[in-house]
Amino acid sequence: MNLAVRIAAAILSVPPDVLAPFVPMLAPSPRNGLEIELRNEVDSALSGSCCRSSSSSGNDEPLFAISREEAHYVDCKSGLPSTSMEEGLFNSDEMSEPPSTYGEITSLGARQIFHYMGLMNDAISYNNDSKYQFFDLGSGGGRLVIQSYLELPSVYKSVGIELSPSRHKIAIQTWTNLVENGDALRIRKLAEKSWGRHYVHSIDDHAIESGVELHEGDLFYLDISQATHLYISSLCFSEDMLVRIVEKIEREGVALQIVASLRLLPFVDDRGSEHLSSKRVRLGRNPWMEYVEMSWTKARGDGCRVYLYTVTNVEDV
Ligand SMILES: C[S@@+](CC[C@H](N)C(=O)[O-])C[C@H]1O[C@@H](n2cnc3c(N)ncnc32)[C@H](O)[C@@H]1O
Repeated sequence: MNLAVRIAAAILSVPPDVLAPFVPMLAPSPRNGLEIELRNEVDSALSGSCCRSSSSSGNDEPLFAISREEAHYVDCKSGLPSTSMEEGLFNSDEMSEPPSTYGEITSLGARQIFHYMGLMNDAISYNNDSKYQFFDLGSGGGRLVIQSYLELPSVYKSVGIELSPSRHKIAIQTWTNLVENGDALRIRKLAEKSWGRHYVHSIDDHAIESGVELHEGDLFYLDISQATHLYISSLCFSEDMLVRIVEKIEREGVALQIVASLRLLPFVDDRGSEHLSSKRVRLGRNPWMEYVEMSWTKARGDGCRVYLYTVTNVEDV
């Protein structure tokens, strides 16, 4: 959390958490003029004017609105395949919004999360190349995935998976447009320049397209073994889904360094369970919290809580 917030909280003798929601949402400072230009380019490239929602109810629908049928499909597929809406899928825990509900991180919020996750560090691998793989589980219209790749030379590959076919289609359309009109290559090169890096494998026409992978499907079937940084916009996910996500991460996330989730992740007692023997990494049990701007908090001028978890190898524990 912001140092100024901690100091103010100490002076007022209140926990930092009490003040954090009132702190204005600011992106981390750009390192130079080129990075300011880069951010403007990314914002205009992802402004969303290219695509319409596929909803049957006409052109006035918000960009990522989906039909009732598709919402039902997403809600029933989201980690709970045998349950239907009629059986009261989301009445079982405190969730009032189903997984099909849409809201997304803003481009400013994305910069905050990149900073908190350590993706803006100038770290490069032993061969002077970018080294991170950023994954977004439930990637919606794909903007976060695309922004992370365009803006962060530290990221070698960005991967998203989205269950809703129409949102996935918008994501693919957005990325394809950017590749075809040359913006993707131009912006990624600007990012490399603004970071002052001369990459051994500087990006070219052929490599740019493969830097972003957008999959359509259920996040539980995605291979996350290469992910170093994982983001889960989990606010609308049920408790059962979150339990399964924790199991998946601890079983498969062998390259992970950090996980960001909008909801606290549940840790069930796994002593003696099957999960314990298949566990290869361990999510830290004491996440730290930050506030990040989302589409639904922007008008209020504040942020949404994000919990950040470190990941350690089981053998190192
Ligand atoms: C709140 S949106 C977040 C979009 C984007 N990640 C962001 O933060 O800007 C969450 C997305 O998760 C998708 N989703 C829900 N269950 C899913 C599942 N089991 N597999 C993949 N995507 C899922 C929803 O369709 C929705 O588009």
